[in-house]
Amino acid sequence: MYPVFGGNQLFGTVEISGSKNAALAIMAAALLSDAPVVLDNLPLIADVFDMAAILEDLGARIQFAQNSVLIDPRCLCGTDAFSGRAQKIRASCYLLGALTKFGGGRFAAPGGCNLGGRPIDYHLDALRALGAEITEQGGVIRVDSRKKMAGAKIVLPFPSVGATVNAALAASCSDGTTLLINAACEPHVVDFFNFLSFLGVRVEGAGTPSVTVEGNHGYFIPSAERYAVISDQIEAGTFMIYTALCKGLVTLKKANPTHLESVISALARMGVLIDSVPAKGYYLPGILPTSEITAQCFGRTKAIELTAEPHPGFPTDLQPLMLALMCVSDGVSILTDTVFSGRFSVVTELLKMGAQISVIGNTAVVKGIPALRCAAVDSRDLRAAAALFGAALSAYGTSSVSGTAHIRRGYEHIDKKILLLR
Ligand code: UD1
Repeated sequence: MYPVFGGNQLFGTVEISGSKNAALAIMAAALLSDAPVVLDNLPLIADVFDMAAILEDLGARIQFAQNSVLIDPRCLCGTDAFSGRAQKIRASCYLLGALTKFGGGRFAAPGGCNLGGRPIDYHLDALRALGAEITEQGGVIRVDSRKKMAGAKIVLPFPSVGATVNAALAASCSDGTTLLINAACEPHVVDFFNFLSFLGVRVEGAGTPSVTVEGNHGYFIPSAERYAVISDQIEAGTFMIYTALCKGLVTLKKANPTHLESVISALARMGVLIDSVPAKGYYLPGILPTSEITAQCFGRTKAIELTAEPHPGFPTDLQPLMLALMCVSDGVSILTDTVFSGRFSVVTELLKMGAQISVIGNTAVVKGIPALRCAAVDSRDLRAAAALFGAALSAYGTSSVSGTAHIRRGYEHIDKKILLLR
């Protein structure tokens, strides 16, 4: 439980950590390497530690040094990912694709936030299209890729982040070319594809809905080379929304504005002043940008209509945070989530803080009030926890936010970062 003393404006500079979703996909992809891999700019969060422990359970050597990790997959000795940890995090499902390199394995259904139904049928269909045999029995998924897998045309019914990653991992271990249609375009997916290229996989079209992946069988990286994970655009968006909620002026270091266009545009429509300093030179995959973003807000924000959708649309991961901001914006806001059906768990808690929200299907209608009041609230998933933390920061008085283990799954030292801004 976090006690949150709200009502202070935020001023100062915050450094954005590495991207959670990129890091998790890239850690799984490191298993494709035939040599040790060093990843830099890793966020030190519970999901990353859980993923590292899952890889360690499989026999990989893992060595952390601050925000870097060495992953040596040469000593892998198992391909079953059943542990409680594997069932806890969503990204454990990336092992389905990565372990096709070793003939497949047995897996438990992955965990992660409860956001409504989160099936993995697209993942399994993609692996089947490449030639893997898959059986499901009593909650256990068995993937058999001992027969050669071959490149194929895979059309995803929805640009799913996870299915794109899994399909590309398995395609990298298949013979020939895979054409992935309706691939996800999120910045963390592009970073994952860039990492595959860094390993020596031939990838074309990353960041567009049509991606080709050329399978290969041995991936070697010169030992002197390291790969830096991109900065987390959801953490950057979180701090921009906190600034709008609490008022103040905050500079985000290492934030990449090109990953945040939909967020910057939504906040600008609400009246938040956003200024970004682009990186010097080009953004190079695996090298951190020098860019920064400043968010400034002193008046009351305005209501808007907004839809969360796959990239380049407004990210669903920031939808609960935006909902909190709409609660105190002037006028009636309408917020629709087209990605997840059950992502409004934060509403009951915001109502305890005085918010006026009604939800119809996947749309929330929010009548703005001048300010939220402090309350004891409970968070049930990662981004709901971040939203309630922000709402509590903006409300005068002392709130308590419980369920905060969720926040440690995805935000590195968020409490320390906030303290530096007050
Ligand atoms: C990833 C992110 C999560 C983010 C989400 C959407 C990670 C570890 N998590 O989750 O933070 O909120 O992308 O940007 O990177 N679907 C199916 N069948 C499938 C796969 C997906 O029906 O096999 C549906 C889902 O139920 C959901 C939609 O597709 O409605 C999008 O899900 P997806 O993009 O796959 O999200 P995740 O990869 O689980």
